[in-house]
Amino acid sequence: MDYTEPQFFRVMQYAARADRDVVDMVSGNPDWDPPEGLRDGLRDYAEASADDYQYPPSVGLTPLRDEIAARRGVDRNRVLITNGAGEANHLAMTGGLHHFDGNEILLTDPVYPYYAGRANFIGADISFVPVDEHNRLAPADVRAAASEETAVIVVNSPNNPTGAVYDAEAMAEFAAIAEEYDALLLSDEVYDHFDYAGRFSSALRADSDHVVATNSFSKTMAITGFRVGYVIFPPEDGPTGTLLERARTQHMLTNVTGSRPAQYAVLRALKTTSPDYYAACRRRLERRVDDFCAALAAAGAEYNRPDGGFYVMARFPDFPGSFENVYELIDEAGVAGMPGEAFGESRSDWIRFALVTSRVDEAAQRLANYFG
Ligand SMILES: Cc1ncc(COP(=O)(O)O)c(C=O)c1O
Repeated sequence: MDYTEPQFFRVMQYAARADRDVVDMVSGNPDWDPPEGLRDGLRDYAEASADDYQYPPSVGLTPLRDEIAARRGVDRNRVLITNGAGEANHLAMTGGLHHFDGNEILLTDPVYPYYAGRANFIGADISFVPVDEHNRLAPADVRAAASEETAVIVVNSPNNPTGAVYDAEAMAEFAAIAEEYDALLLSDEVYDHFDYAGRFSSALRADSDHVVATNSFSKTMAITGFRVGYVIFPPEDGPTGTLLERARTQHMLTNVTGSRPAQYAVLRALKTTSPDYYAACRRRLERRVDDFCAALAAAGAEYNRPDGGFYVMARFPDFPGSFENVYELIDEAGVAGMPGEAFGESRSDWIRFALVTSRVDEAAQRLANYFG
């Protein structure tokens, strides 16, 4: 697979040009409302003083960093607000590659394609570690793949696209491998609120100088357009402390800073949203997972039921997950998924469906009709 060009837009554009109604299950854009506090924050912001329309601190609004730091149990100094998890991942990957010996980034197969695209873009060598038959990354396989060449190991839990969720023990092992091979464990935790099995554990709990955790509010608050994420680096006074300073500089030179109104609104939402909001989002998705998986089973497809996140991968008999077949499904069934081959060799027979549409039942029915 050529990861140099992101493939999502290719499929989305094809679906948009289709001559019929298409259920979009390509993008990871939530279709539900953000927390009410977020809208309140935005409304208030419109009346803010001229001062509040100027640059926020480059590292992000102090009260937002305080709030995140308190929730994640770390010192505020370690928190850097970024333009989504996308930038957070970029800072962590480039930082790890620069700081540690070796030029290799270990990714999983299947992989979230932007990791591979980014690793390519920054000139890293990529090694893919295949997940096991349960779609999980086995720490023993990561250890076997790691070497002195390894600078960064990327783990994503809950996982896009497999739905795997790693517990504290697995995370501690990934962190231990990073320490053993003097590399960085980059733990992307953007789907942490979508953990159906209650198994999720942040890599930060490993309390290691070799762990960087990234996250964002894109999915948690259904605000992919706001671009508010964050990265938590190891303490500045520790052995990997220079990672943080370099990331701050890179962030400042690239962006100057992030968006002040977006950060303000996220802070308001963090302070005012009850756990019920997140629980309701999780329940909604769990219901969709149930319905979609049941319909896939009825359509004779193989599928993997996610423990977390909001993607389901399915395999239909004699219908590989190629771009051609996905285009065929758009034209003939009116359902747009993402070709499995975009996520790696191992999934070239599969198609990924994002359950962020209220039309999940309709899509399932269309697929059942097409394959029935
Ligand atoms: C695993 C993963 N990480 C990061 C991102 C990007 O998140 P953000 O919108 O916060 O940049 C996505 C978006 O789909 C994702 O699936």
